[in-house]
Amino acid sequence: MRLTYTSDLWWKNAVVYCLDVETFKDGDGDGVGDFRGLTQRIDYLAGLGVTCLWLMPFFPTPNKDDGYDITDFYRVDPRLGTLGDFVEFMRTAHDRGLRVIADLVVNHTSDQHPWFKESRSGKDSPLRDWYVWSDTPEPDDPEQIIFPDKEDSVWEYDEGSGQYYLHTFYRHQPDLNIANPEVRDEITRVLGFWMELGLAGFRVDAVPYLIENVDPELANPHDFLADLRAFMTRRQGGSILLGEVNLPYKDLMTYFGEGLGDQVTVCFDFVGMQKAWLSTARGDARPLADALRERPKPPKDCQWAMFLRNHDELTLDKLSDEERQEVFAAFGPDKDMQIFGRGLRRRLPGMLGGDLRRVKLAYSLLFSLPGTPVIFYGEEIGMGENLALEGRMAVRTPMQWAPDGSFGSAEPKRAMPDGPFAPERVNVAAQRRDPDSLLRWFQLLIERYRECPELAWGDCTVLDPVLDPVLDPGRGTGANAVFAHRCDAGGATMVIVHNLGDTACDVELTLPGLEGSRLTDLLVDGTLEVSGEGTVRVALDPHGCRWLRAFAPGASPEDASAKAM
Ligand code: NOJ
Repeated sequence: MRLTYTSDLWWKNAVVYCLDVETFKDGDGDGVGDFRGLTQRIDYLAGLGVTCLWLMPFFPTPNKDDGYDITDFYRVDPRLGTLGDFVEFMRTAHDRGLRVIADLVVNHTSDQHPWFKESRSGKDSPLRDWYVWSDTPEPDDPEQIIFPDKEDSVWEYDEGSGQYYLHTFYRHQPDLNIANPEVRDEITRVLGFWMELGLAGFRVDAVPYLIENVDPELANPHDFLADLRAFMTRRQGGSILLGEVNLPYKDLMTYFGEGLGDQVTVCFDFVGMQKAWLSTARGDARPLADALRERPKPPKDCQWAMFLRNHDELTLDKLSDEERQEVFAAFGPDKDMQIFGRGLRRRLPGMLGGDLRRVKLAYSLLFSLPGTPVIFYGEEIGMGENLALEGRMAVRTPMQWAPDGSFGSAEPKRAMPDGPFAPERVNVAAQRRDPDSLLRWFQLLIERYRECPELAWGDCTVLDPVLDPVLDPGRGTGANAVFAHRCDAGGATMVIVHNLGDTACDVELTLPGLEGSRLTDLLVDGTLEVSGEGTVRVALDPHGCRWLRAFAPGASPEDASAKAM
C-alpha cells in the first residue's frame, strides 16, 4: 500500500487520545485543569506518539453532567480558560503534528441554555419548536431510560408552559428538535465555527438519539448526518465525524452511510469491546474471534474505532444477562463497582487486579485489533478508579503527573485514587524513567502500530490456532485461549498472537500465502520461519503476545518493509 494514503485518510490508523481539559493539567493554580496547563503538556502527548486529541466538552456548563450539559456552544468554559488560550493550545498542538477533535453534544442542551429558557417561556415562543414538546407523550419503555439511577421517564412536565419536553438523558438535558431546519442550521454553524479555529472533526455524542426525532415519513433521518459530513468536507476535506453509535453491527452500518460511507467516518466498536472483555474474563478468545468474524467491513474510507475503556461506565449492554454477570463476577463483583445495571465504573488495571502482564496484554490487543485505537487519558500509566466519587466520576480523576499528586500549584479540586493506584505508586514521572513501565509499553505499541499501517488498513482474518501436537500430545486441538489474526495490505502482512490464558503454550498457525517466509517479532528480538507447507509454531508466555511481520523468502527486513510501504 502507498504510505501517502495514510496521510490523506489519517483517521484510518490514527491513535486518538481522549482527555478532559478540566482533569488534565492545571496551569493557573486554581486546582482545575485548563487550556494553559494542557498546552504545557503537548510535548508529553506528542512523545507518547498519539496523533489526535479528542477534547471532552469544554464549553460553559452548569456541570450537572460533567460538561455534557452545555449553555453556550460558541464559548470556552471560563474555568478552563479563554478563547485565546484555546487558540494558543491549537496552534501548539498543530505545531507538534497533532490533530484535535472535540465532543459535539447536540442531541440536547442544558436546561440553562438561553435557547431552552426561551423555548419554555410559552407555547408561542419563537424557539418553542427548537425542542421536543408534547401534550400526551408516549408511555415510557423502561429500556429507553439511560440513567435509571436518577430518571424513570424521558418526559418531564414543564409547569410554566403546560407541556412535556423530551429528555433522552437527565431531565436537565432537554432534547433539541433536529427535525427543525433552524436547529440543523445552527448546529452546522457550531461545527463551522470550531473548524475555523482548527478542529479536524468531532466526536459525536449519542448519534442514534440525535436523529431519532426526525419523522421518517417526512425525511430520512440519516440525511442530517450526510448533510453535516458534506458541509465539513466542503470546508475542510480531511475532517471527520467519530460517532458514539452503540448498536449491533447490522443496525450500525447505516450510520456509516451504507455503501456510500458519507455519514459518520469512524464508529466505535462497542460490540467488539464488550466481547473482548468477555474473552478476557473467560481466558477464552472465542467470543472476540466470533465478533470480529461477524463484524462487517466499513464502507471505503471509513473505519472502526477500537477501545477498551472510556469516560463512561464500561457498558456491557450488548452481552446476554449471563455473560454480563460473568464479566461482573470477574472484574467488578461489588455492587459499588457496578452502575446502571449494565456496566462497571472501574478503570482497566483495577479490573485486572493490577497484574501488569495482563494489563500489557490488554493494550497489545487494543493496538493490534483492526481499527483506530482510542485511549482515555491515564490509561497509558495504568491509572485506577476512585470509587468514593459519585457514579461515572470514579474514572474521571485528575491526571497523575508526579508521586506527590501535584497537578498544578494548588490541590486538585477532584480527589485522586488512594491505595494501590495512588499517585505515589502510579505517575508519569516515575514511569518515564522505567524501561519496563506501562508508559514505555504504550510508546512501543504506538510506534509499531504506526509503522505497520497494514494493521489498521489491511484485510483482517481471524486465524484458528491449534495447540502444538508435539508439545501438547493428547490435548484438544483448538487453542481456545489464543487469539490470533493476520492483517494483509498490498503485499505486507502482520500476524498477531495473544495468549489470554495464564499458562504458557505453543500454537501452530497455518498461514496461506506465506510459505517459506520469515516472521520478525516487532516487540522482542526473534525470528520465526514459516514452513514450506505454510505452518509456523509460535511460543507464548502466560498472557504473552507476539507481533510478527512477514517478509518474503530472501528479502532482507528493510527491503520487505520498503516494499510493504
Ligand atoms: C454520552 C456521553 O459519553 C456521556 O458521558 C453523557 O452523559 C451522555 N452522552 C449525555 O450527553
